[in-house]
Amino acid sequence: MCGIIGYTGPRNAADVLVEGLKRLEYRGYDSAGICIAQSDSLKVLKRAGKIAVLREALDDQFSGTTGIGHTRWATHGEVNETNAHPHLDSKEEFSIVHNGIIENYQQLKQGLEHEGVTFLTTTDSEVIAHLIAKHYQESLEQAVRDTLFLLKGTYGIAVMSSREPGKIVGARNGSPLVIGVGDGEMFLASDVTAVLAYTKQVVYLNDGEMVTITSREFRTQDLHERIVQKQIELIDWELEQIERQGYKQFMEKEIHEQPESIKRGFQGRINYDQATAHLGGLNMSPQELREVERIRIIGAGTSYHAAMIGSYLLEQIARIPCSAELSSEIRYRNPVVEPKSLYIAVSQSGETADTLSAMRELQRKGARVLGICNVVGSTIARESDGGVYLHSGPEIAVASTKAFTSQLTIFYLLSLMFARQRHYSVDEGQQFIQAIEKVPEQIGAVLAQAQQIQDIARRYSGARNVLFLGRGKLFPVALEGALKLKEISYIHAEGCSAAEIKHGPIALINEETPSVFLIGDDFLREKVLSNLKEVKARKGKVIAIAVEGDQEVADLADDVIFVPHAWECMYPYLMVVPLQMLSFYCALELGCNVDQPRNLAKSVTVE
Ligand code: G6P
Repeated sequence: MCGIIGYTGPRNAADVLVEGLKRLEYRGYDSAGICIAQSDSLKVLKRAGKIAVLREALDDQFSGTTGIGHTRWATHGEVNETNAHPHLDSKEEFSIVHNGIIENYQQLKQGLEHEGVTFLTTTDSEVIAHLIAKHYQESLEQAVRDTLFLLKGTYGIAVMSSREPGKIVGARNGSPLVIGVGDGEMFLASDVTAVLAYTKQVVYLNDGEMVTITSREFRTQDLHERIVQKQIELIDWELEQIERQGYKQFMEKEIHEQPESIKRGFQGRINYDQATAHLGGLNMSPQELREVERIRIIGAGTSYHAAMIGSYLLEQIARIPCSAELSSEIRYRNPVVEPKSLYIAVSQSGETADTLSAMRELQRKGARVLGICNVVGSTIARESDGGVYLHSGPEIAVASTKAFTSQLTIFYLLSLMFARQRHYSVDEGQQFIQAIEKVPEQIGAVLAQAQQIQDIARRYSGARNVLFLGRGKLFPVALEGALKLKEISYIHAEGCSAAEIKHGPIALINEETPSVFLIGDDFLREKVLSNLKEVKARKGKVIAIAVEGDQEVADLADDVIFVPHAWECMYPYLMVVPLQMLSFYCALELGCNVDQPRNLAKSVTVE
């Protein structure tokens, strides 16, 4: 999604902005631009395409020390240089960058056109620049405030004016904005990664708040000019974590980080004496946890798949009725909130609009919603009633990998905690802990097969359609495998329960449509094997992900990738990793941009 960066201080603003925009690239974008304050004017540079193109076009004229920049992910108006932000008013005295969607922009635009304003772009955002110019009387803050009262929709904005050099005003309603507090310099950004190279001190804005930054200070207030006191928080991410560290792609790096990121998720959260998990941030007493009768988990994309696996785990291990639902769906179906239900919102970014809105709707109806997020200080993390951080470290590749396995880690810990409160003995708890502690090493064994997986990917990368099939907890893993493949290689893929292929997808099977089968070693193995034979009988090629030593599967399948033998509940962890690798190598083979796939965004802050 769109990204914002603003800077004021002693440095060359253009350098800081372009560097910040590079850091925001991972969010997904199609064009970019910057605006720099010169002595008494504003100078704008915009380009469609990559930041590198923008950087090349920079010259000495962009030499000021205050500026705003933006990466655009088109929602209204096509992708081109004109529609890229920043946008100016007609006299070029005010410049704005905007994330979000202004729903009533048509109406506002018509009003301004009647007054003689000429619009240069087809975006919804340009109205903001003209409205600020129209309302400017005594100060930039006043003009922004008067404009915000007219806007319907969502926004994170940064505004500057040639009339008040050295000042940037920001405001937030639905799209994240964070202040980076430096020493004699200030930053404004939609995402902490944009400022991490300069400062680790940040202040998160809430909806309905505005901020003014100058090189010396920041001042936060609400839309009624009341000062809001904010806490400076420290980011615990290191700059190296958002760099490739020798890998060519972030996705590859993040796949290989999983043994460590999973370990970070459970380390320090296991109580060995009592053979249970200790999750400090839930804000629930043991009695309240004991009273939970039902759990409902919501999420989008990959997080929804983690939610599905979580629901299988919690129901099987903790014996609590549990279901997972797409946040985009629950939001608008006027959900019934049952009194003893616990809701969990899962989101890597903590900013996904669908999940955030669903959470707010559930809270409005009296639900207690816990958040499982990776990004510390994100909106879902702050607005949920309690929760658990993934501690996965920053995930930069658009396609989620390590955050997914970290989300699973939290569901394993929650399952253990609830199970120990209810029916699990100490002995069972200890066996559980032993099983999860083996996972990082077992994933290491899967990662060690990179060469073999790459060879397989090479052979199948010409396919136009691929099916991913699994049952039980491996069904959501199949969905995730299919999502990964389509996200980054653009090969059409469908995930489904192996049992369901006979109800439709088997019609797709022929020599050209390979199937990826996920085969554990529990009671469902035989049933999945029957489905595999049905596919083979129709000349379908089969790649099997199976448990080491399963010779029968090796004999039946065209290709097999083995994962180490583990407790049956741990196979979602072990089997998703080869699927991530298969997708990665297919995309590489096809020459796709793995980290920034077309049309996708890392954090989707619009509905
Ligand atoms: C986008 C990303 C996906 C992600 C989904 C949910 O679509 O491209 O990778 O799974 O959003 O994001 P969240 O931050 O809520 O986990």
